[in-house]
Formats: sequence, C-alpha cells, structure tokens
Amino acid sequence: MDNVDVKSVKDSNSYSNYLELDKLLNTQNPVTGKHENTAHEELLFIIVHQAYELWFKQILHELDSVLSILQQDYLDERYLTTIVERCERIKKIQNLINQQIDVMQTMTPMDFLNFRKYLGTASGFQSFQFRSLELKCGRIFPNLKFVCQGFTLEETNKFMQTASNRSLFDVANNWLENMPFLKYQDFDFWQEYKKSTTKMLQAEMELVKADNYLSTEEKVIKQKSLAETLPTFAEFLNPNSYDSDKWSCRFSKKALLSALFIFSYRKEPILYLPYAFLSSLMDIDENLTIWRQKHVMMVQRMIGGKMGTGGSSGHQYLQSTVEKGRIFSDLFNLSNFLIPASTLPRLPIELQRQLDFRFSV
Ligand code: HEM
Repeated sequence: MDNVDVKSVKDSNSYSNYLELDKLLNTQNPVTGKHENTAHEELLFIIVHQAYELWFKQILHELDSVLSILQQDYLDERYLTTIVERCERIKKIQNLINQQIDVMQTMTPMDFLNFRKYLGTASGFQSFQFRSLELKCGRIFPNLKFVCQGFTLEETNKFMQTASNRSLFDVANNWLENMPFLKYQDFDFWQEYKKSTTKMLQAEMELVKADNYLSTEEKVIKQKSLAETLPTFAEFLNPNSYDSDKWSCRFSKKALLSALFIFSYRKEPILYLPYAFLSSLMDIDENLTIWRQKHVMMVQRMIGGKMGTGGSSGHQYLQSTVEKGRIFSDLFNLSNFLIPASTLPRLPIELQRQLDFRFSV
C-alpha cells in the first residue's frame, strides 16, 4: 500500500461509490427493533430475501438476452455459443440460490415466531421478479390476475406485457421446428426411426420367447408389454397424428422429433451446441423444481400447516405448485422413445458430412 496515492483513490471512483454501498447497506431495516427487542434472526431473513432478489435480477438479465437472440428472424448459429454460455450462468446462479435455503434454515421455527407477526401480508408470493422469471421461462398461469395480486399497477402492466411476449419455451419450440436434417433427400428420420424401433422391439420379443429362465407367465407379461409399446412408438413417430392431450405435450410434434434427433445424434459435431442448449433447458427446469421442493420443505418446517402471510394455505398450496410449475417436462419424457445407439438409423454419408466439421485437413 506504500505506493498508493490515497488522495487519488478518494477522488476517483472508490469501491463503495462504484457499488453504491451507502444505499445498498442501508436497506436492511428489521422492524422488530422499532417495536420491542430486536429479533436477532430478522436481519438474516431480510438479507436472504434481498440476495434472492439480486440474483433474480441477474437471471432476468441473462434470460432477456437469450430471448432477444432467439427471437431474431434469422439465427446465426454462432450465437448458440452465447446462448449456451448464458444458460450455463443461469444454472450456476440457481445452484447457488438453491443452497441459500440452507442458510435460511439456520433460523429455527421458534426464532421465526419472534418476528413473523410483523410481516403482515408481505409474502414471497408477491415477488414480481420471481413471477417474471417463471413467465419468461414459459410457465403457463391459467389465472394471470391471481398471480398479480400484491403487484403494483406498474408491475401488473409490465407482467401482462411479458405474458403476451414469446417465452423461452416458445422460442425453443420455434427453433426446434426450424431445424433442418429431419428430411434429407431420400432420408426421412420419422420413417427410419420407426423402422429401427419396430426391428428393435421385434428382436426383444424374440429374446423373451427364447429365454429359458422366464416362466410362461413372465413371458406373457413381458410380451404383452412389448406388444403395447409398438403402437405407442408408431403413433408418436407419425407426423400426422398428434393428440397433445394424450401425450400431454406442449412442444409441437416437429419440435419434439427434432429434439429426439439431437439427443440421438448428439455426438455429430454440429449437434454439440444444440444438445448443450436442450440440456440447459432441462437443467434450468430441474433447478427451479428443486427450489420449489426445498422451499416447500422449509415452509413446512417453519410454519407446519398454518396459512401463509400472503393468504394461501401455505405448505399445501406450495406442494401443489411443484409439478404445475414444470416447463420442459416434454424433453424429460422423450427418454420414453430413446433407443440404444447401436439400433439408431444410419445417417446417409452426405448428411453425416453436413453434420461434421474439422479443425484440420
Ligand atoms: C422462513 C422462511 C420462509 C417462509 C416461512 C416462507 C413461506 C411462504 C409461504 C407460506 C408461501 C405461500 C404464499 C403465502 O401464502 O404466503 C410462500 C411463497 C413464496 N415464497 Fe416463501 N417463505 C420463506 C422464505 C422464502 C425465501 C427465502 C424466498 C426467496 C425469494 C421465498 C420466495 C417465495 C416465493 C417466490 C413464493 C411464491 C411461490 C409460488 O406461488 O409458486 N420464500 N412462502
């Protein structure tokens, strides 16, 4: 420090000036101090929530940039690197904030009781940033007005505007639909995949028949299950039949089949980034679900079956949101239709060349 000119540091932008710490560090004001003895844990409660809101802000910043790139009329594939990098950042932040629940839980339910009554009707339910994040990822809210309870008028208007924009789910669906390669000259992925799965299931049928270790009853059960699988595959792979209620899918059929193609041929160099992007979408969904699960467990520990300060049934309500909040379950469920690499349709040489790239000649 000997060589540092203290005056010039003062004059220039200092650490606390740059970060506006005077403002930031003056926004933790426990209410208990104003009424009775300060509840020691209230500061932790405030800081953990504020830290969440800061990280939500960063996640929204990343999400907005990913959305604006994916909404361009023409997507230069080079941007996929940026998209994947930003999704990776979102995942890391999610991992971090999911662990913050553990910090919150160093406060006991008895400690919480020392200040819970001062929260009034304030509740995480009213977090505008959390809701915006869910909406931008693609969560569907059947009742938007219900979600806006507790928002300011400005927040409500902004939220409604976001609801009319395309979400991460929408742009991913669109991007998948536009993926080439499903049909290439005479090669039709749907048809070829159907042939491969039929062959694979018939071979499995033969194996069951020839298995001397299985009893007759066991053989019947296994054969019945394989026989039922065949039409399921056939229907799924038929581009003209798509009963979204039956499959309970949100992605379009074409988008799902593109995702299946990317999963199956992910080792082809050109599919590396598309696969990383789809994996990121699943990870983001999984991390959100883990947050909901951890939060609901914490809530039960803190308040048991009592009502929430926001007026909901508390633990019971939150438990019901765990599955309702899922966004990319279709990608998880695609595993029903994956087949071993050895049974995948062989790609035509010309198509393989198109999926390839080389660093050297
Ligand atoms: C002692 C700790 C906590 C308790 C007892 C608690 C309790 C609750 C309860 C009961 C609800 C349901 C709505 C209501 O009626 O109030 C809720 C919702 C919510 N809380 Fe917490 N919470 C805690 C910590 C946190 C933290 C640290 C965050 C981080 C931001 C958070 C964010 C949320 C969000 C976003 C919702 C809305 C969830 C949804 O509707 O899907 N909570 N909380």
